[in-house]
Amino acid sequence: MRSAIRTGALRGLPPSTTAPLHSGMKTARSCTPRRVSVPPASAFHSKSPDYSEAPAAAAKLPEAEPTPPPTPRDRITLADIKERRAKAGRLIAPTAASCNADMFKAPQTTGKPKAKRWDHLLTKESTLRAPCKLKQAAKNLNNPGLISLGGGLPCPEYFPISSLTLHIPNPPHFSETATLAGGTDATIGKYDASAAPTPTPTPNPNPETTTAAAPEYDLSIALNYGQATGSAQMTRFATEHVELLGAPPYADWGVCLTIGSTGALEQALRMLCDGPGRGDTLLTEEFSFSTALETAAPLRVGVVGVEMDGEGLVPEAMERVLDGWDVEARGGRAKPRVLYTVPSGQNPTGATQSVQRRGAIYEVARRHDVFILEDEPYYYLQMQEPGTEPPASVEAFLEGLIPTYLSMDVDGRVMRMDSFSKVVVPGSRMGWITASEQIVERFIRHAEVANQGPNGFSQVILHKLLDERWGHEGYFRWLMNLRMEYTKRRDAMSAACDEFLPKEVVSWQPPQAGMFQWLKVNYELHPSASTKSIMDIEEEIFNSCISKGVLVARGSWFRAEQDIPPSGLYLRATYAAATPENMREAIRRLGEAIRESYQL
Ligand SMILES: Cc1ncc(COP(=O)(O)O)c(C=O)c1O
Repeated sequence: MRSAIRTGALRGLPPSTTAPLHSGMKTARSCTPRRVSVPPASAFHSKSPDYSEAPAAAAKLPEAEPTPPPTPRDRITLADIKERRAKAGRLIAPTAASCNADMFKAPQTTGKPKAKRWDHLLTKESTLRAPCKLKQAAKNLNNPGLISLGGGLPCPEYFPISSLTLHIPNPPHFSETATLAGGTDATIGKYDASAAPTPTPTPNPNPETTTAAAPEYDLSIALNYGQATGSAQMTRFATEHVELLGAPPYADWGVCLTIGSTGALEQALRMLCDGPGRGDTLLTEEFSFSTALETAAPLRVGVVGVEMDGEGLVPEAMERVLDGWDVEARGGRAKPRVLYTVPSGQNPTGATQSVQRRGAIYEVARRHDVFILEDEPYYYLQMQEPGTEPPASVEAFLEGLIPTYLSMDVDGRVMRMDSFSKVVVPGSRMGWITASEQIVERFIRHAEVANQGPNGFSQVILHKLLDERWGHEGYFRWLMNLRMEYTKRRDAMSAACDEFLPKEVVSWQPPQAGMFQWLKVNYELHPSASTKSIMDIEEEIFNSCISKGVLVARGSWFRAEQDIPPSGLYLRATYAAATPENMREAIRRLGEAIRESYQL
């Protein structure tokens, strides 16, 4: 790893919601899908959106021409979203409703070029995936008057949960104590969405963040089978979120909810990389998320690690790998066509790519026609710079974030993976991907037979919390709060490192984002460097740490290429889990283990 590392530095259901659905619920709830009058899939709202022609208009557009990356001002604002929702009216999306991002996108995306096609990249496995017949059939479920004897959807009458109540924070009072003392109860009923549009059952203390006059989602919809894209309710949320952050500069982008980025990556690799057949190779950082490497291995996809520096993956090094690719010398492996990168708070190194770095990597990818998998679970954990004031508003927060690959993707060569794991709860097993329509469509075909999209509990709970109660603004305020919390944690770990680690042999750079402190231990200075391998010394320190009562991750676990000798000795410590006090003690123990090993 090239070093910019500083030593010792601290530094909607029955939309025509009829009265019997209120008063005569029992009789109305037959085991056939509710009798509803549902507009065609392109117009899910109670009012007609003026952008429902988006897909058709996009289809007529030419191939992508390079356009400059969007400036922050090109982003859709919170006010735009509110206005658009008000115009569209209540979202009416019953059981197994099919949807796509075009139903919710801003009308101006139709004026942009289309993404490039990726037919040459798709694997045989992916091209062989046909639409799931039962999911296709389920799209008819909500046709007025239809009695279904088709799909095996259970009747909600037999769902043994009538309601769920969440106790949630009121933005901006997010602490556990504030929530316990003054949070709000938010209840999700079984048939909320079929109720007449009256005010929500519990008063919302943040009326300005409320996006719906009445619940648009409920347990009867969420807990039944749905489409593999996920619910329309959360698809709308994800689509708008992408636009608030900076949508791709091409027209035909879409989103698909996922079961989290782990599963999304597995689906993506099987869609884009064919190890046994084409001898495909994946490019990634020289130290990479170990689970990602473990995903590629059984698919027999080769992995090549690209040199990193303090800003992560080095574009010149990526170019060198691609320019000099020799299929024979690489054992018959094809030149890499896919890059997997974690641009912010990279796991394990904590490195964050600047906007210039992202741009340079994107240009190398264009020159060599490489597709980019942008894995960003830590994106919102971009820290507060020392001595700077926290952003005064949500807009200021958004403008201060490093632009995403997606927002600069003039070609449609990026699939971004977002996840709720690190910023809401990992147990939700939920996130979403954003990519070109073609990529999203192939992704959905896989999801239909693999997992059928994220689970209904997660979707309805996250919808209640993020969409209905907090709204986008409240969610961003939560993320702003999280940034401050992680900044404090990062600083506590940096202070502990400064206090307890032997600077003569350990160097580090406090990360700008994420959850990880990467520590470089100078192997050459070890008294047994001439007789013991890096792996032996790493193991010795790791075991000593365990016996002293501290668990750190060994750097070698994250080496992209396990079959070449390690370039150095590294350890990864996370400041996500322990209290500041415990963190200090843990680093003290780590320092002791290193000192003992180095006989300092
Ligand atoms: C880089 C990276 N990607 C993905 C994940 C897992 O994300 P999810 O919980 O959404 O599967 C992690 C978790 O540690 C990670 O570090």
